[in-house]
Amino acid sequence: MQLPPIIPTTDRATGYATIAAQWKALLQDETDAIAAMANFSALLKHTFNWHWVGFYRVLGEELVLGPFQGPVACVRIGKGKGVCGTAWAEDRTVVVPDVDLFPGHIACSPHSRSEIVVPCCGRSGVVVAVLDVDSSELDDFTSLDARMLETLCEALIPLFA
Ligand code: SME
Repeated sequence: MQLPPIIPTTDRATGYATIAAQWKALLQDETDAIAAMANFSALLKHTFNWHWVGFYRVLGEELVLGPFQGPVACVRIGKGKGVCGTAWAEDRTVVVPDVDLFPGHIACSPHSRSEIVVPCCGRSGVVVAVLDVDSSELDDFTSLDARMLETLCEALIPLFA
């Protein structure tokens, strides 16, 4: 299979427009959620040059580190803990302009300054994973990122058991 090229950009709107087509191509005939999450992490990381992009999967009563791109990260996060655990518990996208001002933020890297976490639901509508994106810039995420990342993550729904 000819993989679509990843084109780095600082323009969010352009980047998301490009990603949408690449993501569709990557998902064609793909049925494995882990493989899809891995490629999606790479696509986002290398398009926008974010510090860390990856997934945590819901396994029992905690989130467990899944496919990601970036420095090593903490492996397990409890429900309601940190930004990821909050997005899971409240089933909503959480945008954090300054991680130092988020009570209970779990600092995996001193380079993470802002972040966005998007809950991903399976076919039953229950949260089965979260997408976590960390930026080394303060206040790097807007409602555009929230909307676009939520839409892109919806493509994973049929792949989740
Ligand atoms: N930022 C997360 C922890 C995971 S790392 O950033 C990869 C949080 O507070 O939930």
